[in-house]
Amino acid sequence: MSRIVPGNAVGVAETVEALRRGLIVGLPTETVYGLAADLANDDAISNVFSVKGRPSSHPLIVHIARHEQLFDLAESVTTACTTLVAHAWPGPLTVVVRARSNVSRVVTGGQDTVAVRLPGHQLAQDVITGLGRPVAAPSANRFGRVSPTSAQHVLDDLGTDVPVILDGGNCLVGVESTIVDCTTAQPEILRHGSVTVDTIRDLLADIDVTLADTPSGTTRASGMLARHYAPKARLVLHENAADLPDSTAVVLRCDGDAVDTARHLFERLRELDRAGVDTAHVVLPPAVGLGIAIRDRLFKAAAHL
Ligand code: TXA
Ligand code: MG
Repeated sequence: MSRIVPGNAVGVAETVEALRRGLIVGLPTETVYGLAADLANDDAISNVFSVKGRPSSHPLIVHIARHEQLFDLAESVTTACTTLVAHAWPGPLTVVVRARSNVSRVVTGGQDTVAVRLPGHQLAQDVITGLGRPVAAPSANRFGRVSPTSAQHVLDDLGTDVPVILDGGNCLVGVESTIVDCTTAQPEILRHGSVTVDTIRDLLADIDVTLADTPSGTTRASGMLARHYAPKARLVLHENAADLPDSTAVVLRCDGDAVDTARHLFERLRELDRAGVDTAHVVLPPAVGLGIAIRDRLFKAAAHL
């Protein structure tokens, strides 16, 4: 049985205790809720993969509470990486770095790189600090489904399999972190998020590093699979509201304020399923700033395999 525990010192202590006992927990972050396991417990990490239904070759993000913990995990850290995390952490940025040999290959999906993030949510930091170690956590949804942005979403999706869910309220960002591969001379964005491509390009330009322009074509981040973040409803995407069909259609406007749209995006997709909607017409935001991440999630939600 699953229990939502309050977002206070008591709830944090219960969450830490569960992690110590090798259990997996629902953890709030500013982007989406994570399904967290103690980084030092490979059995608990394996359990994350099985509860999510995620292939073991798809690596998890390691969440830390202090900048210095990056150096316990990374074999080497480039100037570009240092520059990006100095600007964006704590916050919705994940960096991929070369992993030290002591980092669990269960977490990295057998790869020699590891994804690391210092989340901006105070409760996430409190749990990691309380545990005294990082936690490994993917988003707390079943593989290929919409990410959860509230404790109730986690309960709805994974209720029977997650004993403790820490209630951190509704996620403020609402889309998953930006992922930047920092293992190469030219860093590459593997997943778009609220730390925008323009911000990253500007930060790197200050240290004379250029961002790789195009994805290399390899699908290393599962968020790059064609169909991901998928509701059951069929989504029909439109660039302009003028292209919408007649007034009886179910419409999801995503062309308003981008921060607000991102924050509520996954809840709106869940609402469609709760209402039993077959088809919804979506108006896309322009492909600038945070709009790029929103479009990315919507294209994936609309893809049909
Ligand atoms: O905002 C977020 O990033 C949320 C919260 C919980 O922190 N987490 C999240 O995790 O979205 P997940 O597992 O759903 O997505 C992480 C992505 C996956 O697509 C995974 O393949 C990629 O990160 N990833 C993890 N380690 C990687 C690595 N070493 N190299 C390339 N991609 C990696
Ligand atoms: Mg995910």
